[in-house]
Amino acid sequence: MRTGLSSEWISELKANNDIIKIISKYANVQKKGKTHWACCPFHIEKTPSFAINEYEQFFHCFGCGASGDVIKFVEKIEAVDFYDACKILATNSHMQMPEISGDNEDIKQKKKKKETYLKMLKDTANYYHMNLVKIRPMLAMNYIKKRGLDASILKTFGIGYSLGWNEVVDYLSRLGYTKEDMLDSGICERKNNNLFDAQSKRLIFPIINSYGDVVGFSARLLEEADFAKYKNTAQTLIFDKSKCVYNINSIKNLKHENNLNEVIMVEGQMDVISLYKNGFKNAVACMGTALTSFHAREIKRFLDKVVVCFDGDNAGKQATLRSLEILVNAGLNVYVAVLPDGLDPDDYLNKNSKDDFEKLIKNAKYWVEYLINTIYSKYNHNKPEEKSKFIKESLFVIKKLSSVAEQDIYLNMLKELSNISISVLREDMRLAKDDFIEVEEKKDSALPSRDNAFLKAVKFVLAALLHKKKYAKVNGNIKESLKNPDNIMLYEYIEKMNKEGKTPIVSALFDMFDVEDNKEIYDIINYEFSAENDNLDYYEDCIKYLVKVGLEGKLQEISRALTAETDLDKRRQLSKETQMIILKLKGNN
Ligand code: UTP
Ligand code: MN
Repeated sequence: MRTGLSSEWISELKANNDIIKIISKYANVQKKGKTHWACCPFHIEKTPSFAINEYEQFFHCFGCGASGDVIKFVEKIEAVDFYDACKILATNSHMQMPEISGDNEDIKQKKKKKETYLKMLKDTANYYHMNLVKIRPMLAMNYIKKRGLDASILKTFGIGYSLGWNEVVDYLSRLGYTKEDMLDSGICERKNNNLFDAQSKRLIFPIINSYGDVVGFSARLLEEADFAKYKNTAQTLIFDKSKCVYNINSIKNLKHENNLNEVIMVEGQMDVISLYKNGFKNAVACMGTALTSFHAREIKRFLDKVVVCFDGDNAGKQATLRSLEILVNAGLNVYVAVLPDGLDPDDYLNKNSKDDFEKLIKNAKYWVEYLINTIYSKYNHNKPEEKSKFIKESLFVIKKLSSVAEQDIYLNMLKELSNISISVLREDMRLAKDDFIEVEEKKDSALPSRDNAFLKAVKFVLAALLHKKKYAKVNGNIKESLKNPDNIMLYEYIEKMNKEGKTPIVSALFDMFDVEDNKEIYDIINYEFSAENDNLDYYEDCIKYLVKVGLEGKLQEISRALTAETDLDKRRQLSKETQMIILKLKGNN
């Protein structure tokens, strides 16, 4: 298991450390109905959206999405790793940490591995960089020139080049690294038992964390091809792109020099570099993933003010809207700078002066104003019903602000835009629903769920089983239709508990999965049942649907096999199977 501590010991530790008591040490917890509530200790808020379930022994924040068991809580609040969180809880409950045993060896090994990978990544980054500086391969040099990257920029960002499929393997072998480490560090990949450079023939951008360690690479194709333009290091023991902020090391340096007024958040690393070249050293980017609360917290460690400056296209606008909530919830002061249509910051600086960009950043709008303007432009204000939607949505945004003075500023702005008197707006705002419930509603309406019907049904069925709904019974057909190994593992856990005459307990899932990084399991744990779905009919419909999709999948497989099969007996057998499935499908309807 991921912890290196025995699961019996961990269960005992959790049983001895009641989650309500532990969280109460850090937050003001109040019981309302069955649930305990607090203002979330992981983001700034004034109405409690941090819920703790005593029976299931886990917490979930409806505002920032933080979620976990008692160990996870200590990890987060004390900023320690799993092992140290266990130590804190063990001390608290007068339990002995297990002595150095085979299990603890695991943790030591892991630490040693991490050190090896870091050293290896550093050596590799140097090697790639030297390829550029010493060998000056023509393809790469031409590209660098085209993008206006001079020697000092190459050095500052440690930019490099991979010469081919095998060179880095040979180089690292010569330094004495093992093949296993080359693979597990994400530097290499394997195909047909051969190792090769994962970033072969690409321009390499090392990704450096705030401690100055190279943790992975982002690498760009130099010629047109049907591969992704950028390829990032795969997830490893030390690299997780959903947590990495490109150029955060520069932010840290600026902060130490007392030279940091704001962080500029852009979409691509070339944008970061282009800004740096023009004297804006304070830009960061996410590595080709949507912004997460990890990114936001990483920035917040250094500064409170962020200017979002995403690409001036529709995708950029959508990404801006999505990121605002995450950044604001992390307690950041967020501004938005808007680029002209179709340009990214790099394009903009190639066409305009530094001063122009400086102005753009200076004129960035506070997120509330940006949102109100965005909502305004969605509607036709000659139609009363659309105008009232504009007001309603804007009031929801304003209500979230924590100071009355601040609310007043934006109510005035709304008054100007709508011609409705301030007292009416204020009264409407007072009547509007409380913030976190609205946040949930807004998520539903503004961002249509991207789950397909199958995934939706799987999530519902597993959630109903996990949360012990009376109508939810285990059923062999469920397991057969699951494909995702994590879902299968969850189902098997529920089935096992049922067999033993016990009920599943949610907090046990945090030992089985890395819940924060596992969207499906996370959604199942925090499933929101509604009046429409919380009943036997819906459950049965979902099971039927899962069975149907499962059978249809099999049917497709068989018909594919049938086209390839020449043996007459086997063809007959396959046809028979087809008939059986068709019958089953009919019966299932
Ligand atoms: P963009 O396509 O906006 O990058 O993707 P860009 O900076 O303008 O790229 P250039 O100027 O053509 O070189 C933004 C970011 O998304 C990630 C990369 O981190 C990139 O910087 N990305 C993009 C990927 O991870 N994979 C891709 O295939 C494309
Ligand atoms: Mn670009």
